[in-house]
Amino acid sequence: MKHRQFALAFALLCVGSATHAQDAQAAVQPEASEQPLYTVVDGYKVDPDTLKGFRTWRAAACDRCHGANQEGMVGPSLIESLKVLTKEEFITTVRDGRLEKGMQSFGSDPRVMDNIDNLYAYLKGRSDGAITRARVTAIK
Ligand code: HEC
Repeated sequence: MKHRQFALAFALLCVGSATHAQDAQAAVQPEASEQPLYTVVDGYKVDPDTLKGFRTWRAAACDRCHGANQEGMVGPSLIESLKVLTKEEFITTVRDGRLEKGMQSFGSDPRVMDNIDNLYAYLKGRSDGAITRARVTAIK
């Protein structure tokens, strides 16, 4: 893990006016050095990349096993998992799967792998509690 990436703009826009929240403090949360960007307004309006992450989640049907709200079914709650897993562990798990344990591999699915950062951003936003609804829409 590289710690030089302090440039995390975890931009939590509270209300509309703050459109360029570039005051991104070097808010260094313990595991935050690799966190992707996501922006969320009102708990469910998100930036375009995070929206792509949500669409990837739907397209890959992760919800079949992890639940429509990431709450867990046959697979664990990703709300909880993403509080613990590093981004690298997340990517490795999604890419390679854990076939013997029922987690499938998405390494050969470009819909997922081309959007892995976006997918992580979406799920991390859910796990952080910043994205309060599983079904998100664009910031207008
Ligand atoms: C066929 C069911 C199934 C599907 C579909 C599925 N998963 Fe999983 N997933 C599982 C199971 C079961 C586990 C638990 C594996 C274990 O016990 O280590 C798991 C584990 C994981 C973990 C690791 C959790 C942890 O705490 O270690 C992540 C991350 C994950 N899945 C993400 C995804 C994503 C993202 C998708 C969609 C791209 C997806 N999964 C689709 C069944 C599934």
